[in-house]
Amino acid sequence: METIFSGIQPSGTPTIGNYIGAMKQFIDLQESYTSYFCIVDEHAITVQQEPLKLRQQTKSLAALYLAIGLDPSKAIIFIQSEVSAHAEAGWIVQCNTNLGELERMTQFKDKSAKNNRAGVSAGLLTYPPLMVADIILYQSNLVPVGADQKQHLELTRDFVTRFNSKYGNGNQLLTMPEVKIPESGGRIMSLQDPLKKMSKSDTNKKGFISMLDEPSVIRKKIKSAVTDSSGIIEYDPENKPGISNLLAIYASFTNFSIPELVDRYKDSGYGQFKEELGEAIVSVLEPIQLKHDELINSNELDLILDEGAIKARNVADKTLIKMRNAIGLGRKRRY
Ligand code: TYM
Repeated sequence: METIFSGIQPSGTPTIGNYIGAMKQFIDLQESYTSYFCIVDEHAITVQQEPLKLRQQTKSLAALYLAIGLDPSKAIIFIQSEVSAHAEAGWIVQCNTNLGELERMTQFKDKSAKNNRAGVSAGLLTYPPLMVADIILYQSNLVPVGADQKQHLELTRDFVTRFNSKYGNGNQLLTMPEVKIPESGGRIMSLQDPLKKMSKSDTNKKGFISMLDEPSVIRKKIKSAVTDSSGIIEYDPENKPGISNLLAIYASFTNFSIPELVDRYKDSGYGQFKEELGEAIVSVLEPIQLKHDELINSNELDLILDEGAIKARNVADKTLIKMRNAIGLGRKRRY
């Protein structure tokens, strides 16, 4: 069986962008892959986090993984910082990655420009190598993510090529991963500024719907989503980014395709469309929220995370020993 790996930062509650771009893909993929779904808390500390809040968000994300339908008898669910191989392999990756490659990463350029470059953490620059480490440690074949992670996957693929050719003596020490981005919904945009990606760290809370927003808040946020003055429901991301984004969200939360939705609402105005979209989102998120609330403080959740960490360590440690042996770190060990 091939392997998939993916992770989400517990830097806030996931948004419907995270759900559509990443989490929704996980549910089907767990059936046909050996699956690792990680809560990447070490990535979250590249920007300042409040300790108690970080811990709470970490557990909440784990509970959401289960609440959306990830099944611990099929998928391995674990917290990154509980598997020390990630940080160790991250260092090896850093030492085999050029500074120029990291400075070119759009996410670093965006975040460091906003916050003044000298004042951001060094981790913000060296975070993509940690992501490379996450992926290679499980010899992952496929990485389901949203479109914003494509560049990091390209970096991972470049690293794998370089590492194998430098240290492999003709062997594929590390597996080459492929990226998997959903055809529609790979980049869900802000509800307030449809030219900007929806993000859980947006200071304008009306720009995103969090997976734990109350139904009344969800309905309100959809109602106040920015559209345009034409009043015609059609899919045209370039000229009508607001309504096109809402169509992509609607299609992801139902079994309708975008053309089917356009046809269904051809004689309706934005008001009715938005009202029914709000209901569609609530009907999916409400049961997830109930399940999340049941799980968040349960023993069951802790046991699942304990077991996930043990299983992940077994696999990750083997790859780490392979990497250490290949580059001459420490004494040679068996794996
Ligand atoms: P993060 O936590 O920012 O986002 C988690 C996942 O959600 C996707 N996503 C979106 N998809 C569609 N529309 C949006 N507006 C949107 N916003 C976010 C992201 O593409 C991602 O798939 N570096 C990663 C986490 C990570 C990871 C990994 C992912 C760490 N190690 C290894 C895959 C494999 C990140 O910051 O995701």
